[in-house]
Parts: sequence; C-alpha cells; structure tokens
Amino acid sequence: MPRFILSIDQGTTSTRAIVFDAKLKPVGSAQREFRQIFPKAGWVEHDPEEIWESVVATCRSAIRKAKIKPAEIAGIGITNQRETVVVWNRKTGKPIHRAIVWQDRRTADICASLRRKGLEPTITELSGLLLDPYFSGTKIGWLLDTVKGAGKRAFAGDLCFGTIDSWLIWRLTGGKAHVTDATNASRTLLFNIHDGKWDDTLLEIFGVPRAMLPEVRDCAAEFGVTDKSILGAAIPILGVAGDQHAATIGQACFKPGMLKSTYGTGCFALLNTGDQAVRSRNRLLTTIAYQLDGQRTYALEGSIFVAGAAVQWLRDGLKVIKRAEDTGRLAAMADADHPVYFVPALVGLGAPYWDAEARGAIYGITRGTTSAEIARAALEAVCFQTRDLLDAMQGDWEKGSAARTVLRVDGGMVASNWTMQFLADILGAPVDRPKNLETTALGAAYLAGLQAGICPAPDAFAKGWKSDRRFTPKMRAPERSRRYAGWCDAVSRTLTRAP
Ligand code: G3P
Repeated sequence: MPRFILSIDQGTTSTRAIVFDAKLKPVGSAQREFRQIFPKAGWVEHDPEEIWESVVATCRSAIRKAKIKPAEIAGIGITNQRETVVVWNRKTGKPIHRAIVWQDRRTADICASLRRKGLEPTITELSGLLLDPYFSGTKIGWLLDTVKGAGKRAFAGDLCFGTIDSWLIWRLTGGKAHVTDATNASRTLLFNIHDGKWDDTLLEIFGVPRAMLPEVRDCAAEFGVTDKSILGAAIPILGVAGDQHAATIGQACFKPGMLKSTYGTGCFALLNTGDQAVRSRNRLLTTIAYQLDGQRTYALEGSIFVAGAAVQWLRDGLKVIKRAEDTGRLAAMADADHPVYFVPALVGLGAPYWDAEARGAIYGITRGTTSAEIARAALEAVCFQTRDLLDAMQGDWEKGSAARTVLRVDGGMVASNWTMQFLADILGAPVDRPKNLETTALGAAYLAGLQAGICPAPDAFAKGWKSDRRFTPKMRAPERSRRYAGWCDAVSRTLTRAP
C-alpha cells in the first residue's frame, strides 16, 4: 500500500520537492533555483518550461534520495507562487509567452485606468482583492492584447490560462487536466470568493474569456493522475493550495483568530476569519484561506512584496554580504545610536499602501553609515511592515484583538534569532517559530495525505504542531513607539500618493 507523499513547492526563486512519510516526516528533498528575467524596469518574468524542468528534476531527485519507488507514493501535493500567469496552447501545450510573475508591475496603467472608471469597489466586493498589478487579471488581459492573435484564440477556446499549479498539473497529467484550486483562483481577480465561482462581471471587466479558465476544485481533491513516463508511476495529484494558504495549513491555523506570517521572497500574513469573508477597511485583502469538502474558510491577508528579496538585493545587488545567513549577524553589529530606515519599495509597496509607483529609499545615512546599519535597516523593515499589517488587521476585525495574540512565523528569514526578537519587540506580541520550518511544503503534503486517507482530520493534525522557540517582547513601550514612528515617517516620504 503506497504510504509516501510527494510535495512540490514551486516558489518565486526556486522549486523544491520533498517526500514525506505517512507521519509527515520529510525523508528526501531536492531544490533547484531558476532564472529571474527582468526585461524592463518593473517587469519580472519566468520561463514556464524552465519551471517545469525544475519540477521534474527535483521530484526525481527527491524520490531517489528518499530511496523509495515512485509506486510507493500515494499522492502528490502542489503548492506554488500565486498570481503568476501562464497562457498556453491547448493543442500543443506550449506557452504563448513567458510567465508574468506576481511581482511584475507592467499593468500599473491598466489598473489606474480601471480605478478612474470607478470599478475598484465592484472588483473588491466580488473578488476580495484590490486593483493592483500584483494579481493575475490585468496580466492575462495584457497578454491577450499584446501577443498577436491571442485574444481571438482565447475566445475560441484554443488557449488555456493557469496559475503555476494549473500549468504543472496540465503538464504532469500529459495535458489531461485543466484544473486549479479555490485558493489559487481567489488570487486572480476573476473569482467570486462568496459563491466560489468564476464571475461574469469580473471576466468582462478584465476581458478574459471563460473558455480559457481551469475548473476549480477543493484544496484536497482529485486533480488528475500523472503520466507514467514522467515520474515512473501513475500518481494521483490530491492536494493543491497557493503557497501562503499551504503555509496557513502547515502552521495549523485552523481556528478563527489564528495568524501566520511567512517570510520568503515577500512576506504574507494571513489571519483566519472562519466562515466570515471580512471586508477590510484598511486595504487588506479578503481571500480564501482553504476550501475543504466544499466549505470555504476565509482569511484577511496582508501582502508585502519584498522581505527575503531585500536580503537578496544586499547580497547580489549591493554585494555587502556574501551569504543571506550573515545578515542577522551583521545587523547585530550596527551602531545602536545611528538609526537608518530602509523602505524596500523595490517593486512598489503592497499592503496596506498599494503604491505601484513607489520605489525604494534609505533614510538617515551619514558618513558613519556602514553595511551593518543598512543590513539592520533591511531586516527591521520586514518587521515594521509586519506591524503595519497586524495593526490593519486589528482595525478590521472586531475579534481582531486576536491579531495581537501569537504570530506563527515561517520561511527562510525566521532562522535569524535577531530578526525574530526585533519582530516580537516591534509588534509588542509573542512570536512562535515552529520546529518544522518547511510549513508550506508540509501544508501541501497534508492536503494530499488527507485526500489519500493517510493523514488525520485538521484538529488531530493541529495537535502535532510544535514550537521550537517563542520570542517575547523585551523592548520598552516608548522605544517601540519611537522606532515605529520613524518607520511611518520614512514610508510617508516614499509614497507617491496618499494611501
Ligand atoms: O503572492 C506571491 C506569493 O505566493 C509568493 O510567495 O514565498 O515565493 O515569496 P514566495
């Protein structure tokens, strides 16, 4: 009887595959980075073929390392960078353009023009999202308008649209399944999050034909079976969720009021609001946290576009650090009496400001400033932005005081004790770091395991969640207020329009 689960975590900068055993213990993994393509300022693309190759290579390698046979895998879970758009030819399976990545800002003008037409309230009411180039809708519209003949072919049903999950499932099943899950659908601007369906009003606004859309399923469901030639066995795909939703599951945030924040390329905080789709007054997003047995659980989400990406920029752009892991150590050496603020609006600012035109800025530099103060400012910026999100959540939800209970954190950056202590200090609330930091892959594996009948119901799974360390606030309140006021001042100087 197959007892293993293969989890595919297709992220913004790398693809990871992890084999889990029936107790959700990782037994083999592989990772591969792929190219980030920047054709123009503000544009970000990926090659969908390269992503596909990275998935096949890491899956094969993880299976080899786990020393199991492909036929011993009961199911595959897929989790992915969200909003990124792929459009491909239904007959040949070939993409008609490179993938347009969630960070891409090329449709800022389209968003501004829709806003001028007064369409944002309707869009927000139906989709839970805001008008920003971040989401898929305007990116699909751009592709259909720009690639010769694409609009016509899309309406004729010759083209398929998919977020990365759909693209991978299409390829894994040898072109047999064109499907997605409710969480990925909820990030497209085309999906009505209240009735769980593609929405005609939204399709019309964004000029996207229904004929190119995938079928939407629960997060734990039958998504198709892999073509035997790809991984050496016909394996069912049984779990799918966008990466932030999978992390919410992996962090076992199943109860209303529970909150997680993942620090990857960007940082995304999700507050479980149960069966209530809470409409934000503070420019947060309303999104589907997960959908199981046709039952939608909602979340308020705050999305920050640059978190780990700021550290990457220190390493690859400024070249002031050699390894990302060195940032915390360098930050700890910074002069305590020399405040520097870094607003990392490298691809505009996300929640709660939503300023697509803003660009990064560093304030307070003197001749005494060294790489240590810049590194500290980059890490602090991630924490200040998390505080922005949690303050907004608190203002949005009457039970929102829960947003000041405990924040569960995961992702690469949380390995830094220095950063996590500063986060707890600036939030004035405890921060819990779990034992298993691979919560995104774990969440996808859990969904597949649930569908396969290997994993227990959510309540029982939640009991297995273990904290590695709790960071409690040590900073005194006046200092917290002073530091946070400095951040707010730096942001206000960076914005190109009032939030
Ligand atoms: O919404 C974008 C998000 O899904 C990307 O996540 O972890 O690749 O930064 P990550």
